[in-house]
Amino acid sequence: MKILHISDLHFPKKISLFSLRGKAIVGYLNYRLRRKSKHPLVLVAAMVDAIQNLDYDALIISGDLTNVSHPSEFQNAKDILKPILTDKTFLIPGNHDRYQKRAMGPNPLFEASFAEWIGESVHPHFYLRTKRIAGKLFVGWDSNLAIPRITANGYVPKEVVETTTKLMKEPYVLVGHHPLWNPNTEVESSTHRLSNRKEVVEGLQRNPPDVYLHGHTHTNWVKLPGKETPFTIVNSASSTRLSDRKHECGFHLIEMGKTTHYRRFIYSENKFTETNPILYEETEGIV
Ligand SMILES: [Fe+2]
Ligand SMILES: [Fe+2]
Repeated sequence: MKILHISDLHFPKKISLFSLRGKAIVGYLNYRLRRKSKHPLVLVAAMVDAIQNLDYDALIISGDLTNVSHPSEFQNAKDILKPILTDKTFLIPGNHDRYQKRAMGPNPLFEASFAEWIGESVHPHFYLRTKRIAGKLFVGWDSNLAIPRITANGYVPKEVVETTTKLMKEPYVLVGHHPLWNPNTEVESSTHRLSNRKEVVEGLQRNPPDVYLHGHTHTNWVKLPGKETPFTIVNSASSTRLSDRKHECGFHLIEMGKTTHYRRFIYSENKFTETNPILYEETEGIV
């Protein structure tokens, strides 16, 4: 089973300030001034090209396709991803795709835009979706909160964790947006983290996934199974960002077999090339 995992695409899109409200105005200005240049279009094109040339069974996107959840950003994301949106694709939303209440509403923009690739809902009251790809079961969570403040916290209700561990009767791959573990060098601030992470990790102990795929913190890592989190955790954020001193950006191709290989691809000289994964033991970080 070959799983290609990308995350935090934050596709660049020019938006009229007059079409924004509330915190999206501040969020968009912040993006234009500070983050836009980190996600150049040449890199976005190189990523789509690289994916088309790789051999994989499933393509997983763990959220943050947009910046401020503007309707035109969802359309833009769909247009860019078109060549790689197939029946092998499974995606979940990130906090930037739930930026404002109007992105959620009775017909949420994320669900409306990507209905064909978000799997089947398995519960009427909360976001819990599954998709089977090449015989493997993928489970998607929505750990995001549409709150008026400019914070990036996440939360996964207890019932979601309980239902996940109860319903999955076979090995599964879990996909969420927020990290469940961070290396000691990348500890998240209280306004950026999944606020009930300890509870989520404890809940998963009952029937842990094979792998947890996520993004949100824009630097790559692979955490090997340990005592608290007896599964591998892979962070592929951000797959469309230029690397720098503090950000190791790229994506992963996870080849699961008798032994699992974590292949990592990074952008360099106008194309993506393979390099070493950044591997950690659980004890090198914290839940
Ligand atoms: Fe992000
Ligand atoms: Fe995020």
